[in-house]
Amino acid sequence: MTKLCINIDHIATLREARAATEPDPVHSVLICETAGASGIVCHLREDRRHINDRDLRILREVISTKLDLEMAATEEMRGIAREILPELVTLVPEKRQELTTEGGLDLTRVHPLLSSYIPSLQEKEIEVSLFIDPDKNQIELAKELGADFIEIHTGEYANAIREADAIRELERIRTAAVYAAEMGLKVNAGHGLNYHNVQPVLQIREIGEMSIGHSIISRAIFSGLDQAVRDMMAIFRAESR
Ligand code: PXP
Repeated sequence: MTKLCINIDHIATLREARAATEPDPVHSVLICETAGASGIVCHLREDRRHINDRDLRILREVISTKLDLEMAATEEMRGIAREILPELVTLVPEKRQELTTEGGLDLTRVHPLLSSYIPSLQEKEIEVSLFIDPDKNQIELAKELGADFIEIHTGEYANAIREADAIRELERIRTAAVYAAEMGLKVNAGHGLNYHNVQPVLQIREIGEMSIGHSIISRAIFSGLDQAVRDMMAIFRAESR
């Protein structure tokens, strides 16, 4: 069965909207792991807009499955990863102004930088995944760079409005996953996957793990809202006696 890894960034987004202490992403770990998640993903961004250094330190302590640290390939992040020692680092492109990661890495551009960056993580027994678009050339470069994994960017598929576009994007993902697996790369996928579009991607057997965040955290608000109101009502009732 495909493994599900939960991206918990947006629990921290909600906390940061108030610059408050709750909700604490650390509290989600036991819930996600007990519910069956195979790993926890978080993205430490340069601007710390959601997950921060304190979160990452404590997450490392409490995660008992697998920590997948998403990060940009910068010197600062290299130092943090080598200190925190996540099981997996997923290298992503990062732009300060973007709302979310907008596409895969362009390995034709970052190839020289990554050729020493990847081994410097692997020598600490951190596996390295490269977040790339479903493109043959990018997969070949990922292999050449010695990455352990690729993560296929599923955003184009997830954002497709017309069915024909979704089918075409799904085929690109399938072809890329098969090609990467044949080359000996482990294959993950993620971005924009939700309760309505994940099913066809789950049929691609070469994909070992999926990283899903926004849709699960969004659903959690509604699946938990009824209880949250009832809990507050119980306090109201108790105080009005
Ligand atoms: N994979 C990568 C590399 C990402 O950057 C993200 C978003 O942070 C995800 C997966 C998860 O995407 P979503 O939140 O849309 O499920």
